[in-house]
Amino acid sequence: MEKPWTGRFTQATDQFVEAFTASVDFDQRLYHYDIAGSIAHATMLTKIGVLNEHEMQQIIEGLQAIEQDIEQGQFVWSIALEDVHMNIEARLTEKIGAVGKKLHTGRSRNDQVATDIRLYLRDQVDLIQTELQRLIEALVTVAERENATILPGFTHLQSAQPVTFGHHMLAWVEMLMRDRERLRDCRQRVNIMPLGAAALAGTTYPLDRHYTAQLLGFDGVAENSLDAVSDRDFAIEFNAAAAVLMMHLSRFGEELVLWSSAQFDFIDLGDAFCTGSSIMPQKKNPDVPELVRGKTGRVYGHLMSLLTLMKSQPLAYNKDNQEDKEPLFDTIDTLKGCLKVYADMIPIMQVKTDNMLQTARQGFTTATDLADYLVRKGVAFRDAHEIVGKAVRHCVEQQCDLSDLSLSVLQGFSDTIDADVHEVLTLQGSVAARNHFGGTAPEQVIAAAQRVRLRLKAS
Ligand code: ARG
Repeated sequence: MEKPWTGRFTQATDQFVEAFTASVDFDQRLYHYDIAGSIAHATMLTKIGVLNEHEMQQIIEGLQAIEQDIEQGQFVWSIALEDVHMNIEARLTEKIGAVGKKLHTGRSRNDQVATDIRLYLRDQVDLIQTELQRLIEALVTVAERENATILPGFTHLQSAQPVTFGHHMLAWVEMLMRDRERLRDCRQRVNIMPLGAAALAGTTYPLDRHYTAQLLGFDGVAENSLDAVSDRDFAIEFNAAAAVLMMHLSRFGEELVLWSSAQFDFIDLGDAFCTGSSIMPQKKNPDVPELVRGKTGRVYGHLMSLLTLMKSQPLAYNKDNQEDKEPLFDTIDTLKGCLKVYADMIPIMQVKTDNMLQTARQGFTTATDLADYLVRKGVAFRDAHEIVGKAVRHCVEQQCDLSDLSLSVLQGFSDTIDADVHEVLTLQGSVAARNHFGGTAPEQVIAAAQRVRLRLKAS
């Protein structure tokens, strides 16, 4: 099959240049969208009288047959035909004859490729949203189940105050809910149709772009033909949202790695999601969260690639844009994989509630509760802070916890302390007392989880 643009050339393309400039190895994954775009374009050309019904039928049937060939692995991709667009078009003409040559009327590969990527990305965003929602729901389910499970909350990775595990899970849920919004917002700008911009300036045919857009399920039509063929903001924006999401998955991964260590021993990720060591028989390694943490780097890298790709391009289309695909595709694949593996892993994660509770008992996590107690008895907060600090120092020396101190010892630090003090020193009392919107009390966890489920349903 011959290249469709050889008319003005007298020499063949250098062989290495042919391979160097080709994109078919990676853009063939767009085939379904390329064909869908062509079918819509042919249908619109018929509506405006450029093609007749019979020609349209031949083109559509030819394209459908090609799609089947591709799906059955029977399509031969050719480097000489550069990209997915020319491969399919050349094959169409081979299959149905001269009428195939009419398909490219009023169109350029520049608006074609921009359309294909947007259609593809739109579907991928939807698949990513499905996986993301599955992960969010898994976390909400754990939060509800573990609404009263106590573990130490940390600042500076030092035990700070007791929190409930459900509350901790819902912190991740809030991050992921924002990621969900970012993706939804980005999808609106992805779902705009460039087709009809042709090479850069529009075409001399009276295209009905709104009709094509309607056929392809686009929400709108690109306003400016120069912008339409050159804009890749939508891919950058998506990659930026993906980078933030990966950052969240990576932070979460870091906690899962810490928690599954012998030192924390808060969770067991399950044999199906861990791997062993070829030399140390005792090892069960948290490879999944480690790998998610590691894969975050490539998604950040792709964002930088895309930003750099665009930064010096004059209007309108430049071949540079062909370099948008590999970073974008790898970001999509990476993100989908990471979300899937987390969504599958979280429901079977075993929570070691006794170990969490035991650790929360150490580290004086109720010291703030004791200070608040003194304030309620009329002591100024700064004085209360000082009094409790002294009590903690005493405990460090005696190697015991605040709740181990007898009433009389406690009264040695402040005579405002009464017998009711031991209630505030318990971990359960501490978390239950933080019973306000956004707080860690079990009651609040259940209510917050309920609200997340409603928010998921609402949009
Ligand atoms: N393979 C090209 C790309 O991905 C398609 C558009 C090529 N257009 C052109 N005039 N060479 O960007």
